[in-house]
Amino acid sequence: MVVNFIDMLQKAKKEHYAVPHFNINNLEWAKYVLEECNEKNVPVILGVSEGAAKYMGGFDTIYGMVTGLIKDLDIKIPVCLHVDHGQSFDTCKKAIDAGFKSVMIDASKHPLKENIEITKKVVEYAHKRGVSVEAEVGHIGGTEDNITNTSNNATLEDCLEIYNGAEIDALAPALGSVHGIYKGEPNLDFETMKKIDDTLPIPLVLHGGSGIDEEKIQKAISCGISKININTELQQAWTKGVREKLDSDKEVYDPRKVIGAGEKNLKEMVDYKLSIFNTRL
Ligand code: 13P
Repeated sequence: MVVNFIDMLQKAKKEHYAVPHFNINNLEWAKYVLEECNEKNVPVILGVSEGAAKYMGGFDTIYGMVTGLIKDLDIKIPVCLHVDHGQSFDTCKKAIDAGFKSVMIDASKHPLKENIEITKKVVEYAHKRGVSVEAEVGHIGGTEDNITNTSNNATLEDCLEIYNGAEIDALAPALGSVHGIYKGEPNLDFETMKKIDDTLPIPLVLHGGSGIDEEKIQKAISCGISKININTELQQAWTKGVREKLDSDKEVYDPRKVIGAGEKNLKEMVDYKLSIFNTRL
């Protein structure tokens, strides 16, 4: 069974740790992440971007795959299946109708009023079905914008406005983090993060979690971050293992051996993130 993120994030907020959101790209990634988190006995959020959903066939396929893995692998931990950066009401509805228990509606490219209206529509549909909703304020930039290291930062006032206007369950305020590889040092606005956390009763989300060092991660958690999204570093870890395999074994052709060569690195990266997020059940 997949669950929404409400209980896991409220607990993380209260007890000052972060629940990992790991993006998945295929069957193997979902399997490795589930196995490792189950082994470490920690809850996990599996994030599915629109691009990844399209790549894997669609939300119905992914729901079937993840619920099948939970059953076949006897996964005991809470697993939240979550849309990452859903761009429209229609995307979020499709995922909810397929069985997803959590969505992020990212209407941050629109002016705030429109962002709130779209988010509210998603919240109304989602909450009737027990589905949690994350929203974004400001705009977290990154490779998807073809611009690196730009973040149109959120203000406390904007965060309050979307919270009051749309009854969201978690908020990702843009505060300096970006998706993909950082050029130079990540520059996070911890002061505003803390103010938002002191003002809003909901958990905060840090996107662009790859490439942020342990010290900054700990600081972000102390400033109210309860969910941290990781994609790029898992991709890099997995690809390194596969590349080494292909470089060292010119005879290999079985896709299970090629893809499986990334398992150890990916699981080690998952483990490392769990340790610096202080994640627990
Ligand atoms: P990274 O790819 O930088 O880890 O960011 C992931 C993310 O924020 C997904 O929403």
